[in-house]
Amino acid sequence: MLATMGALGLAPTAEAASREPVYRAPRPGDFTLTGRGAARVVIVGGGIAGLATAYELGKAGYDCTVLEARDRTGGRNFTVRGGDSNLDLYGNRQTARFADGQYLNAGPARIAQWMVTLDYCRELGVPVEVFTNTNSSAYIYNEKAGMTAPVRYRTAKADVYGYVSELLAKATGKGALDAELTADDQERLLEFLRGFGDIGSKLAYTGSERRGYSVDPAAAGTPGVELGPVPSASEVFASGVGRYFSFEFGYDQAMLMFQPVGGMDRIPAALTREIGGHRIKTGAAVEKITDKAHGVTVTYRQNGRVRTIDADYCVAALPPNILAKTAHNLGPAVQTALEACRPSSAGKIGLEYRSRWWESDHRIYGGITETDLDLAHVWYPSYGHHGRRGVIVGYYNTGASADAYAQLSPREREARAVAQGVKIHGEKYRTELVSSFSHHWRQTPYLEAAWHSLSGGPDAPVFDPLNKPTGRVYFAGDHLSYADAWQHGAFTSARKTVTALHERVLA
Ligand code: FAD
Ligand code: ALA
Repeated sequence: MLATMGALGLAPTAEAASREPVYRAPRPGDFTLTGRGAARVVIVGGGIAGLATAYELGKAGYDCTVLEARDRTGGRNFTVRGGDSNLDLYGNRQTARFADGQYLNAGPARIAQWMVTLDYCRELGVPVEVFTNTNSSAYIYNEKAGMTAPVRYRTAKADVYGYVSELLAKATGKGALDAELTADDQERLLEFLRGFGDIGSKLAYTGSERRGYSVDPAAAGTPGVELGPVPSASEVFASGVGRYFSFEFGYDQAMLMFQPVGGMDRIPAALTREIGGHRIKTGAAVEKITDKAHGVTVTYRQNGRVRTIDADYCVAALPPNILAKTAHNLGPAVQTALEACRPSSAGKIGLEYRSRWWESDHRIYGGITETDLDLAHVWYPSYGHHGRRGVIVGYYNTGASADAYAQLSPREREARAVAQGVKIHGEKYRTELVSSFSHHWRQTPYLEAAWHSLSGGPDAPVFDPLNKPTGRVYFAGDHLSYADAWQHGAFTSARKTVTALHERVLA
């Protein structure tokens, strides 16, 4: 019967069930049937992991309190809109001046179709729309390789695929693959290459309409003018454009991707609503976690006053680098594990423009331009097409580039990003700009990291103490997952912790 219901879309199919470990949310009936009562749980950190923990435990009636140090929930899930203000650890205060409806997802911005993040969007009623992660009309610009003008993705792909196909066909023709492939297989390979590289019956790449047009095909009399001149194979490989193509093959970056309509923070906003405002204390910075024989005491500071809260259990869902600096009695193995989670840097700048010149002049509707400049990536908005204004992500960089921009004042960051972007897009990149907002995660209070690298992965022995409770204290966060730097990791880590805690309470 289940199989039939699955086929009708009324129950998960075997395929869906086999893709991910089955998660069963706690239910009120779990207690009614066993005669046990729900426990009191204090959750430290109101990011995705902390909120998901409170939301899932709340389904069974757990008495949850979330303590969040910052003045809003969401943690790294931060959508910047007009009026939003931020103070970084270098003392830079910024207030966004974006117009109504314009926003920058300073942290998470894209969701792959397989991620449980989308299941939460469905369950919480958060509408989603396509996020354009790759666009054949976007550019590639490698200044260090001597490029003086950007090249469109489609042009770069046509040239690289064309020449690679020609070379492979030549090698096959010279017998270089005779030991690897039968004559039939070689013919099948050539057939593939003819289509893949558009190399025709002569098996030579001489350009292709795939490169694009300098005059687009239109009405009779206007057949279009193919883009030229076609660079040589040597020029194409020297330009290094091909290095970006594999990005879209990644399991976590492949199209289609999605985003919540109106901003990524629609997710924590919905979780916060479902948990209930009375269960969440913002501006509550935890200073100490004490595990006791029969409970946990958490000490926090709110409005200048030190307070304590007692609970049966605690879930520490704050970043490991921050917990490592917080007083606790969880022992040296926990401390060693926390210190072994290495924080990484990342930054973004949102550049708000008074017109959507990238749509009207460059015919780019969403997607990403890749560069070897220190701004790394330029993102065009996947929302508000044909509207009046738009916010471009003028840099999304990591590591040393992110740290270098972070050390500048917000004005200097903007000037540097714009000076680079002009090289790709022309003067409108400067003249149409109305405002900007930059955000750097290593310099953000209570986070001090974009994400964390765990050498050997979350199951390496050193991290063992974080994958199980110490006394009555549990841990959760995207760092304790194989999807670090993804909300999917935070959600699945929270689910794992919720399952373990609930099983213990029911035992
Ligand atoms: P956090 O969000 O770090 O939550 C921890 C919380 O603890 C914070 O709210 C913090 O304020 C709070 N806290 C800290 N100290 C204390 C204290 N002493 N007392 C009380 N509270 C405290 N994910 C995607 O799905 N898609 C993406 O495209 C994507 N892109 C990203 C891009 C960037 C630049 C960044 C930075 C992240 C991106 N992510 C993306 C990852 C995603 O943001 C994280 O995986 C997720 O938000 C982590 O949630 P968390 O709850 O584990 O941690
Ligand atoms: N998961 C993050 C992103 O896709 C790093 O940008």
